[in-house]
Amino acid sequence: MNPHVVVYKKLPDELLAVLRARFRVTYFEAIDETNRAAFLEAIRDADGLLGASVRLDKATLAPAGRLKIVSTISVGYDTFDVDALTERGILLAHTPGVLTETTADTIFTLILATARRVIELAEFVKAGRWQHSIDDSLYGVDVHSKTLGFLGMGRIGQAVVRRARLGFNMTILYHNLQPVPEVETAFGARFLPLDEVLRTADFICVVLPLSPETERLVGAREFALMQPHAIFINGSRGRIVDEAALIEALQQRKIHAAGLDVFEREPLPANSPLLAMSNVVALPHIGSATQETRLAMAQLAVDNLIAGLKGERPRYLANDAVWSDRR
Ligand code: DGY
Repeated sequence: MNPHVVVYKKLPDELLAVLRARFRVTYFEAIDETNRAAFLEAIRDADGLLGASVRLDKATLAPAGRLKIVSTISVGYDTFDVDALTERGILLAHTPGVLTETTADTIFTLILATARRVIELAEFVKAGRWQHSIDDSLYGVDVHSKTLGFLGMGRIGQAVVRRARLGFNMTILYHNLQPVPEVETAFGARFLPLDEVLRTADFICVVLPLSPETERLVGAREFALMQPHAIFINGSRGRIVDEAALIEALQQRKIHAAGLDVFEREPLPANSPLLAMSNVVALPHIGSATQETRLAMAQLAVDNLIAGLKGERPRYLANDAVWSDRR
């Protein structure tokens, strides 16, 4: 019998057809309270899973006794217990690379939108409040030639650095597990201790993956180190930040503004204080969400899944140990 694949995110028809030609497919466009039980039932005899944005922890996947591969349509894989999958010999494939430039565009959009108050001022115009030439109460702050500090420096961070340095003449500081010599040579970036980056930068941009080491890395202590004019940008994962501490830092004007694509809880609850602040730009986790990039990610995730179920190495594995152990 053909392997059973459970898809738990909306896929373009042509990719769904590719899967249906090879596998027995159970398809959910999204998982919510109405179909969660059916989804959990389906994964019990799944050989492969393909989807994104659903937390599939150790307990949830425990009944999936035949599972060989999970292919997530995302670069991040913090919705899985990687160690538990690795112990069970289940491949975990993901989609780095194809979303790098689009996600860097989103992060740079947040930098510009917060500094130049784009959303707030566009709403001002739409509300018919533009009656005179604007005065300094509505001025923004410059982005060009300022200092941009990064927490993390992976592929996406480096793509933001390129935009910042070549397009906006910004000075680049960063803190990371390891120095990244390429970014220093090409863009003059300076590797500094975390606290130095926080103390010095005009913009502080989080581009780290979520892991036990990075969870709540930025809290009250870190916000206290930032300058009152600092603008905080997070385009990676909400749980890297203590959101209550961020809200307090904004309320007490310890920092100037925040541009956020990610939150502790997503979707962001409608009563979040962040939504009432004019100096916060909040986006609905759109980092990679363009037609072209989401298609490329879905295609790569399908290719990863097919390879894994054929017994080949998927192009991008988050737990290479599973593959090495088979050799
Ligand atoms: C990713 O690919 O990890 C994006 O953040 C979407 O979850």
